[in-house]
Amino acid sequence: MARTDRGWSPDATDLEWIETTAGQPHPVLLEMEAVAGPEGIPILNRDSGRMLAILAAGRRRAVEVGTAIGYSTLWMALGQGDEGTIVTIDPDTARTARARAFWRNAGIADARISVVTAPALDAFAAAEPALEGPFDLAFIDALKPEYPGYLEAVRPRLAPGAVVVADNVLWSGRTSGARPARDGDGTPELREICRRLSEDPDFLTTILPIGDGLLVAVLRG
Ligand SMILES: C[S@@+](CC[C@H](N)C(=O)[O-])C[C@H]1O[C@@H](n2cnc3c(N)ncnc32)[C@H](O)[C@@H]1O
Repeated sequence: MARTDRGWSPDATDLEWIETTAGQPHPVLLEMEAVAGPEGIPILNRDSGRMLAILAAGRRRAVEVGTAIGYSTLWMALGQGDEGTIVTIDPDTARTARARAFWRNAGIADARISVVTAPALDAFAAAEPALEGPFDLAFIDALKPEYPGYLEAVRPRLAPGAVVVADNVLWSGRTSGARPARDGDGTPELREICRRLSEDPDFLTTILPIGDGLLVAVLRG
């Protein structure tokens, strides 16, 4: 542990110990990690995946914006258990076809995960039946400038007590101002979604400093 003015913050030894304690992820998650890096496919950080699985536990209906090859989807599906279902949105069929194969290899029944092949805002606006809700978990991980739009689309589809999770809210230091933002990179919109949820009395919100920043907001029941 390293001492900071806010108490103790974990150092490399602590992080290694946590990794040992957590155990190896499901072998299919490891396969996905192995292909994502070399192919430049952006997937969730492993620690954020573990957190997402915990948040998904006991939540029967989830919606995800941004599937890629289905890594975060699989963490959620494993966390939910056999009764859970997920609707996941991504316009990139090459990626979602690979996701489907990974989910099958992990033993997830096809019926548990539906893929909506469209840009998410279009799919929500078209009132795609699969997106009707109510959902008790929403995971947002697609285009950063569209995050406020995703939240707006998801909000009326949430069940009381639902949890909203959004990845990359630290945006490698750009959201806080630790690093400079670039025009159009989504930094103002990330600030906006964090502010909106934090100031909304209907939600209980925090930002976990794991991975690239995981926002977690629970809609009060
Ligand atoms: C960061 S990746 C998702 C990673 C995935 N959640 C994971 O952790 O395994 C973002 C994905 O958003 C998808 N995407 C791009 N534009 C989109 C849109 N308008 N609506 C939904 N998804 C979109 C991309 O095709 C890409 O696969």
